[in-house]
Amino acid sequence: MMKRIAGISILVLAGLGLSTPSQAWLEAGSEREEALKLKPDLENGMDVYEVCAACHLPEGWGTKDGTFPQLAGQHRTVLIKQLADIREGNRDNPTMYPFAQPEAIGGPQALADVTAYIEKLPMNPDNGKGPWPEGTPEYEEGKKLYEENCVKCHGKHGEGNAEKFYPRIQGQHYKYMLRQFKWIETGKRRNANPDMRKQIENFTDRDQELVINYVSRIPVPKEDLAPSKDWKNPDFD
Ligand code: HEC
Ligand code: HEC
Repeated sequence: MMKRIAGISILVLAGLGLSTPSQAWLEAGSEREEALKLKPDLENGMDVYEVCAACHLPEGWGTKDGTFPQLAGQHRTVLIKQLADIREGNRDNPTMYPFAQPEAIGGPQALADVTAYIEKLPMNPDNGKGPWPEGTPEYEEGKKLYEENCVKCHGKHGEGNAEKFYPRIQGQHYKYMLRQFKWIETGKRRNANPDMRKQIENFTDRDQELVINYVSRIPVPKEDLAPSKDWKNPDFD
């Protein structure tokens, strides 16, 4: 009898063990922790970034249609976490996966270096926006949803929180954010924050569009923006 109970509890534990890696928010002992401790080498960061520029563009601005996210201006901690998660298979990204592997760009030092390079890039002054401009009722509805559900983590202006790995979302492309929001809600983005998932579980499709429309229209502080939307990254001229 004892033996059987022990057997069952081992099965239950094994079951729990299996479900943990599929929803991993801040795993201990990951490459993230290692990369965060290293001193970045900006020169090497620029060399590594050449691979990334093929999709995220030399300016790190991504594309307005949301296929590629803007990386410029994102907190370095967030960039390191997301890269480590993608490399560990906690966040699906089949397009980028082969280019982000240690064989392609190097180990934790490469993560430390490339994120230090990206962090200093000025942001896109012309990000992809949702359909409803300021002054419309939809904009106001989105603003209200944002204030009630998002401010406590992403901040009043979508500035995020570097220490807590909360992404900066101001200035990000509308379509990219909408896709991520849905993937976080449905659990497809497996590294998502469980408290955010809880917060948004009752959001309808329309609520999602309204709140992300608002986020896409939050102004980015001038000092973080490139001088114009035609600015080119001189490192890659
Ligand atoms: C072949 C195209 C491609 C290449 C090359 C590429 N990426 Fe990506 N990257 C993507 C796509 C597509 C996404 C968004 C995936 C999604 O929708 O979840 C992404 C997402 C990211 C994210 C997550 C952004 C966020 O806001 O969470 C980071 C960080 C990132 N890439 C960094 C890099 C770095 C650093 C490199 C170079 C080592 C690189 N990428 C190379 C296509 C690429
Ligand atoms: C409990 C804190 C919390 C709350 C509340 C929260 N978020 Fe998040 N959000 C996060 C974290 C943490 C991530 C990054 C998850 C990860 O590591 O993959 C994230 C990711 C995102 C992303 C993807 C960003 C990217 O660059 O890929 C978007 C968009 C987003 N949140 C929007 C929202 C909106 C809009 C709300 C309110 C309706 C909200 N979040 C509420 C913590 C939160």
